[in-house]
Amino acid sequence: MTDANKWVIEDKVKNKFLVNRNTFISDEILKLEKQLIFDKVWVYVGHESEIPNPHDYVTRKVAGRSVIFTRDQKGKIHVLLNTCTHRGALVCREEKGNSKTFLCCYHAWSFKNDGELIGVPHADAYGENFDRKSLNMIDARSGSYKGFVFVNFANNAESLEDYLGAAKEYLDLVADQCAEGMEVISGTHKFCIRANWKLLGENSIDGYHIPHNHSTYIDFLGEDEQIDVSGGIAGQAFVLGNGHVVKEYKAPWGRPVAKWSPVWGEEAKGEIEEIIKELESRYDAEKVHRMTQNNRNLWIFPNLIINDIMSLTIRTFDPVAPDFMDVTAWAMGPKNEPANLRERRLDNFLSFIGPGGFANPDDIESLEVCQIGFNTYPYVEYQDISRGMGKSQFNIDDEEQMRGFWRKWNELMTVEESKVKINS
Ligand code: FES
Ligand SMILES: [Fe+2]
Repeated sequence: MTDANKWVIEDKVKNKFLVNRNTFISDEILKLEKQLIFDKVWVYVGHESEIPNPHDYVTRKVAGRSVIFTRDQKGKIHVLLNTCTHRGALVCREEKGNSKTFLCCYHAWSFKNDGELIGVPHADAYGENFDRKSLNMIDARSGSYKGFVFVNFANNAESLEDYLGAAKEYLDLVADQCAEGMEVISGTHKFCIRANWKLLGENSIDGYHIPHNHSTYIDFLGEDEQIDVSGGIAGQAFVLGNGHVVKEYKAPWGRPVAKWSPVWGEEAKGEIEEIIKELESRYDAEKVHRMTQNNRNLWIFPNLIINDIMSLTIRTFDPVAPDFMDVTAWAMGPKNEPANLRERRLDNFLSFIGPGGFANPDDIESLEVCQIGFNTYPYVEYQDISRGMGKSQFNIDDEEQMRGFWRKWNELMTVEESKVKINS
C-alpha cells in the first residue's frame, strides 16, 4: 500500500495522529525517501574538526552515497562524490588520511583533493577534443554551521542557515561550550540496527521510554554513583521547523560540560565552577544555565542527532534497507580539554550511549522488536503517535516532537511529483 494520503493521518478534533507502518517496511517508500528527502534537503556529513589540517580527509557514506570529506591546500572544505569519472571505481578506499591527491586503482586517473582531474595515463589516445574539466570529480554543494558540515545534492535548496532556522540556537548551545571550539574526539562507534532509520530518530527524542526502557541506568546512578535520582527527568519538547525537533530537560546525572556528579569527588567542584565562570564571561546567565545544567536531544532533519546529555554525542545514520540502518557515532568535547575532564566525559559517554552502555543495547533491542512487530502489517496498520495532542506546551514524554518530524516528512513525501510516481 503506497497511498500517500494514508501515510500520516492527523485529526485535530479527536487528537489522533497516526503513521502508517508501511512507511517503515516498504522498499518503494525508502526509494522515495532517498529522492524526495535525502536528495533534496541538507544532510549531515561530518564535523570540521575531523579534518583539521590541509589535505586531511575522511570517507563515509552519506544518504547512501560514498563521499570524500576533504580539506584542500587552502583549507577549503569539499565533499567529493567518491567515484571515478572514468568508469566508476571508488577513487579513495581508505577511511581517513592526509593526501593532496587521490589515485584511482583501476586505470590510474588521478585527482586533486578539490576534485580536479590532473592525471590521465596516455591521454593522447582521447584526441584533441578531450575535455578534462568536464571530468573533474563532483564537488557537492556543502555548507558549515559552527563546524557542523552538511551537503545538499539539490541545486535549488535554501541556504544552510535558513534550513537550520530555529535549530541553530540549539547547535549554538553545543558549539559555544568552548571558546576555542569543539572537536570530534578520536574514535568512532559504528554499528548496524535491524530497524528503519526513522525509528532511531524517534527514539533519540523520546522521553516517554526513559524510565521504563532505561531503569537499570537510573538504578545505577542512584546505587553506584550516589546520585539523588528522586527529582526524576522532566522538561519540554519543541518543534523547531523544517522537521527539526528537540527535547530539553533536567536529569539527575552529571554533565562533563559543567554539572557536578558525586562520583567525580569534591575536588571536581572547583573545576566545574571555573568552567561556569568562564562561560559566564562570554554569555548571559540563562544561556550558561541551559548549556551546563540542561540536557538536550536534538534531531536535525533528517540524519543528525546530537545527544547533549551525560556526555555529548553526535550520531548519524544511513538507511541501507527499510529494515536496516548503519549508524555512526562520535563523542565530542572542547578542544584542549584537560585530561581528567576528558576522562570523565568519555567515561560518561561509554556508560550510557556507548555500544555496551546502559542505553544503546536497550534502545536497539526496542527498535528491533518494533521492526519485527511490523511484520503483522497490514493487519495492524498504524502507529499511534497522539500522546499530548491538544496541549499548548509539550513535555518530553509527549509525542509532539515525533509529530514535528512526521509532518515535515509527510510534506516532502507527498508533493505532486511523488503522487505521479506512486500512481505510475
Ligand atoms: S575507473 Fe578510474 S581510472 Fe578507470
Ligand atoms: Fe533510549
